[in-house]
Amino acid sequence: MKLWTGRFEKEIDKKTNDFNSSISFDQRMYKEDITGSMAHATMLCAQGIISEEDKDKILDGLQAILDDIESGALVIDPEAEDIHTFVEGELTSRIGDAGKRLHTSRSRNDQVALDIRLTLRNEAESLIPMLEDLIKVLCNKAKQYSKTVMPGYTHMQRAQPIVFGHHLLAYAEMFLRDIDRISDAKARMNYCPLGSGALAGTTYDIDREMTAKALGFDGVTMNSLDGVSDRDFCIELANALSLVMVHLSRFSEEIILWCSWEFKFIELDDAFSTGSSIMPQKKNPDIAELVRGKSGRVFGDLMTLLTVMKGIPLAYNKDMQEDKEAIFDAFDTVRMCLTAFIPMIDTMTVLEENMRNAAAKGFINATDCADFLVSKGLPFRDAYKATGELVAFCIKNNLTLETLPIEEYKKVCDLFDDGVYTAINLEKCVNDRTCLGAPSPDNVVARANSILERF
Ligand code: ARG
Repeated sequence: MKLWTGRFEKEIDKKTNDFNSSISFDQRMYKEDITGSMAHATMLCAQGIISEEDKDKILDGLQAILDDIESGALVIDPEAEDIHTFVEGELTSRIGDAGKRLHTSRSRNDQVALDIRLTLRNEAESLIPMLEDLIKVLCNKAKQYSKTVMPGYTHMQRAQPIVFGHHLLAYAEMFLRDIDRISDAKARMNYCPLGSGALAGTTYDIDREMTAKALGFDGVTMNSLDGVSDRDFCIELANALSLVMVHLSRFSEEIILWCSWEFKFIELDDAFSTGSSIMPQKKNPDIAELVRGKSGRVFGDLMTLLTVMKGIPLAYNKDMQEDKEAIFDAFDTVRMCLTAFIPMIDTMTVLEENMRNAAAKGFINATDCADFLVSKGLPFRDAYKATGELVAFCIKNNLTLETLPIEEYKKVCDLFDDGVYTAINLEKCVNDRTCLGAPSPDNVVARANSILERF
C-alpha cells in the first residue's frame, strides 16, 4: 500500500512500481533514515507539535525497527517504494496513529536530502582512514628505499636520477590532497536540509537548529528550494573520488610496467598476482589492471551525476533518485580498490639492483655533467651543447659517461678534469639534490617522517 493513497483510485502498475522504486539501493540508508526521524520526532515534541506520549512511542518504535533490521528479524520489503516509505509504514503498523504523526512538517524531499547527506558523511569518514593507511605504507616504504637510485622519466624516456622513495612519496602527496578534497566536500555538505519540506518549508513552528545539532550538522541550509534540490555534494564527492581513481590508476600503470620483464623493478607478492590458464610462465598484475580499469566506473558515476543534475528545474524532481546508485557505486569501487591495492603495495618486492642498473644506462647524469662545466665557469647553454656532443660520441662508441676516457672529455671541452667522474656519480647526483622537494635521501626521509607525524 502506498503512502499517497486518497487521490488515487488504483494501485500502481506492478512493473512500473519496480521501475519507480528505489528500495533496492536506498535501503542502504535505513539507519540514517531512522536516526533522522528520531531527531525530527524529538524536535516536534519539544516544539509542542506532537505529544510527549506520541514522541515516546515513535522513538521506541523506531528503535525497535532499527534493532530488528540489524538482527535480521525484520526484512526490508523489496516491494516498498523506498526506505522512507518502508520505515514509516512499518512504524505505523507497529504503533498506530502516533506513527502517522511522524511525517508532520516533513516531506520525503527534505528527508531524502537529509538521509543522503548523513550516509555520505559516514562514507567519507570511513574512507579517509583507508587513504591514510595507504599513505603510511608509502611513507614507510619511502624511508626503506630512500637511497635506492632509479631513473626518473619524462616522455617515458630515462631523464634524471631519483630515488625510489621519492617516486613513492609523489603518490603520497596526491593521496594527501585527496584526503583534503574529501574532507573539504564533507564540510560543505554538513548543513541540515530538514525543514525545507517538499520545497517551501513549513508553517509549523519547527526548530531546525535543534534537529541540525542533534544530527551533528554545522548548521542548516538557508533556502528551502536549494535544501531539497542541491546535490552539489554528490558531485563534489564523486569528483574527489574520481581523482583518487586517477591517482590509483596512474600508480597501477607504473606497477604494471615495473612488473614487466622489460623493467623488472618490482615483483608483486603471489597473493596479489594471478596466473594464466595456458601460459605456465605467466605472473600477471591483474589487481593493478583492474584498479586501472575500475577508474572508468567512477568517472562514469561522476558523469552520471553531472548529467542528471544539469537540466532539472527547481526544486525536487524524481530524476534525482538516480544520485544514490552513482555515488554509492563510486564509494564502493574506491573502497574495493583500496582494499586490494594497499596490501599489494605493502608486500611488493623492490628489485633495487635492476633499478640501479637501469639508472646506469640512458645518460641520466648528463645534466649533472653539464652542471660540472658550469661549476668551472662555462655558461649553461654551452655546457649543455658540449655534453650533448659527448653523449652522441658515447652512443656511437657504446660507452657511458662513466666509461668515457678523460681524453675524450677534454677533446670536447678543456675545462673537464677527473673531477667529472665524481660529479656524474649517480649516488652523488641524488645526494646533492637537496633543494626543497628534490629527491635527496635526506629529503625523502624528512618528508616521509613529517607526513607520518600527521597520522
Ligand atoms: N526515493 C526518492 C529519491 O530517492 C525519495 C524522494 C521521493 N520524493 C518524491 N516527491 N517522490 O529521490
